Amino acid sequence: MAHSPTTITITGAGGQIGYALLFRIAAGDMLGPDRPVRLRLLEIPQGVRSAEGAALELQDCAFPLLHSVDVTDDVGRGFHGADLALLVGARPRTAGMERGDLLAANAGIFGPQGAAIAAHAADGIQVVTVGNPANTNALIARAAADGVPAERFTALTRLDHNRAVGQLAQQLDARPDGIRDVTIWGNHSASQFPDVSHATADGTSVPALLAERLGPEAAAQWLDDVFVPRVAKRGAEIIEVRGSSSVASAANAAIDHVRDLVRGRPVDAGWTSAALVSRGEYGVPEGLVCSFPVRSDGSGYQVVEGLDLDGRARARIDASVAELVAERAAVQELGIL
Ligand code: NAD
Ligand code: LMR
Repeated sequence: MAHSPTTITITGAGGQIGYALLFRIAAGDMLGPDRPVRLRLLEIPQGVRSAEGAALELQDCAFPLLHSVDVTDDVGRGFHGADLALLVGARPRTAGMERGDLLAANAGIFGPQGAAIAAHAADGIQVVTVGNPANTNALIARAAADGVPAERFTALTRLDHNRAVGQLAQQLDARPDGIRDVTIWGNHSASQFPDVSHATADGTSVPALLAERLGPEAAAQWLDDVFVPRVAKRGAEIIEVRGSSSVASAANAAIDHVRDLVRGRPVDAGWTSAALVSRGEYGVPEGLVCSFPVRSDGSGYQVVEGLDLDGRARARIDASVAELVAERAAVQELGIL
């Protein structure tokens, strides 16, 4: 039986990531070749022309799955009937802005959007936050979305996950699709912990392969001094080299995140990483939006529980969680939560 169109709201659709996302979604890369899509492009007035331009180009592609495209700067209209919301538009940090200013500016975006989602979106809405600071923006949206279950809110750390896989594939001369069970823990920030202690490449333990190639001491050093900072600071490296933040890789990761969330992830592909509202797993305080190892059967992400964590992992996870706690406290101090 033919599927009815899925309504997808993309905020910041007139921006860089929006432009990299829209055509792939309309081509079926995200929900699959059997799911028609209805796109709602939500912008602020300054971004509307750019989104309208993208809408014209979408029409010119004549995508068979594209049911319709609407552009709006009205938050209620933007989320009306949405089955899926990709919250991409955010206030970037500009010169002289303190962390508190950034959180306050983004709370002014993600709070009203959360409230509009609760008021206007479809009952089964799934909300994925991409705009930075992604974890805390998701926390703010969720807090404002009265009545929408916590598990419907996730934030993107799939880009960090894919970056980690890419680095391992290069170091081990392995295919990325043979690398399984890498985890990004914590915040989508430089404090995150990319963890390979349970990872395998073509079925062999990644730590064992690294020790074999580099020697045990050099392998430990490579992980701590090269791999972890390279992945955790890759966003800054891209900004430095490109002159602006990652776009195509971010859009690609958002597509991977949503595809696994709504279509499920094959068990033999291993787990992936996503930031979810904590229910206290691994000692992460409840309510924080924290990146965990996750699986999906197509009904949402579930945390992979029961993994052993050594002292090094525990300390690094605790440091990133402490940053999330501090971001939440800063938002609370502003009277936003
Ligand atoms: P961009 O500046 O090109 O586009 C942002 C768009 O959002 C603009 O068109 C702007 O008009 C719009 N916008 C601003 N406020 C809005 C609002 N209230 N409602 C709707 N639209 C609004 O930026 P970009 O390169 O597309 O990046 C978008 C965000 O994604 C940034 O916050 C960036 O830091 C973040 N990002 C996250 C990840 C991740 O892995 N989580 C990776 C890369 C970038
Ligand atoms: C990234 O990881 O590439 C981005 O989150 C960086 C940024 O600050 O936009």
